[in-house]
Amino acid sequence: MSPGIEFNRRVEQIPVYPAASTYAFDGELVKLASNETPYAPHPQVLEAVEAQLRTLNRYPDPEKSVLRRRLAERTGVAAGRIAVGNGSCELLLAAGEAMLEPGAELVYAWPSFSIYPHVAAMSGATAITVPLDEEGRHDLEAMAREVTAATRLVIVCNPNNPTATALTPAEIDGWVGELPRHVAVILDEAYVEFSTLQDPDESLDLLERHPNLVLLRTFSKVYGLCGLRVGYALGSESFRLAVDRVRQPFSVNALAQAAAAEALAHQDEVERRVEQNAIERLHVESELEERGLETTDSQANFSWVLLGDRDEDEVVEGLARRGVIVRAGKALGEQGCMRVTYGTRGENDRFLAALTELL
Ligand SMILES: Cc1ncc(COP(=O)(O)O)c(C=O)c1O
Repeated sequence: MSPGIEFNRRVEQIPVYPAASTYAFDGELVKLASNETPYAPHPQVLEAVEAQLRTLNRYPDPEKSVLRRRLAERTGVAAGRIAVGNGSCELLLAAGEAMLEPGAELVYAWPSFSIYPHVAAMSGATAITVPLDEEGRHDLEAMAREVTAATRLVIVCNPNNPTATALTPAEIDGWVGELPRHVAVILDEAYVEFSTLQDPDESLDLLERHPNLVLLRTFSKVYGLCGLRVGYALGSESFRLAVDRVRQPFSVNALAQAAAAEALAHQDEVERRVEQNAIERLHVESELEERGLETTDSQANFSWVLLGDRDEDEVVEGLARRGVIVRAGKALGEQGCMRVTYGTRGENDRFLAALTELL
């Protein structure tokens, strides 16, 4: 026994979030490892942040009233049903805290977003993981088969990180309707704006039919505000009250609230970014294909690249040595893969040139 301070036994079960690998590189890095947007925030968003700087001697609004009102106007969902978090990750962890406990089960697909194992481990619940299908898509039927009396929560990542694949709202609609009502479903839509399979507003209709459904969204991706940390959940009022109870009241800072509220007013900018993303997706995918590399069907701002019998860590390290940062991963069947975010055209071309050198 070491004589140090003692920790809760659950702490050991909580995975450590893996930072993207970097490599000593003398020059400008191309950061394509975190699914960020390469574009700076809208000038009026920056102005809204600057205006808040003079009030930093005050606590932020614990009710996030302005932002919740703007989200209500934008989505048509009542403000009382909207929870705002310090990034959508905070809301995921809060949902776990509010709903799970030892003996309870959380179901999610795998590979999927790396925070989901934390949601189970932090609460001491059991994680039940269900393999994606051969195309890297959620196998909803297989997930439904894992639901038991102990299941409290199912998370569906749509589009899925890291495989970039997506389901349509119709597929999800029928499936949620078949699940027992005691099971909450979080539909993590961090990348939904990029999906060509749906308009983001289409999933809002699902909320009216399924009281056990929560849509989780973020300002980190298409809105380009991940440095400020702000995300939101649309669900029932009881969900909002529960996640608010388990968090400190001031977790969303004043700059984040102001920036997100302003960003919502610039939907034309969102559309422009989605279009640009689609152009870069086509470019990157066709160039990868020319190099003999397959990708899954991307509905997001990144590609999941199948590396065949190449070792994914070697490829990712080789790119890092050339100043290009991407993430390594494994597909089902243990095939090596890498996840590469689309950057600007210049960044994407540096990635492609580095890859050519490497292969
Ligand atoms: C699927 C998914 N959900 C949620 C998030 C977290 O976003 P946030 O920055 O809002 O915490 C990410 C970020 O990479 C993600 O990939």
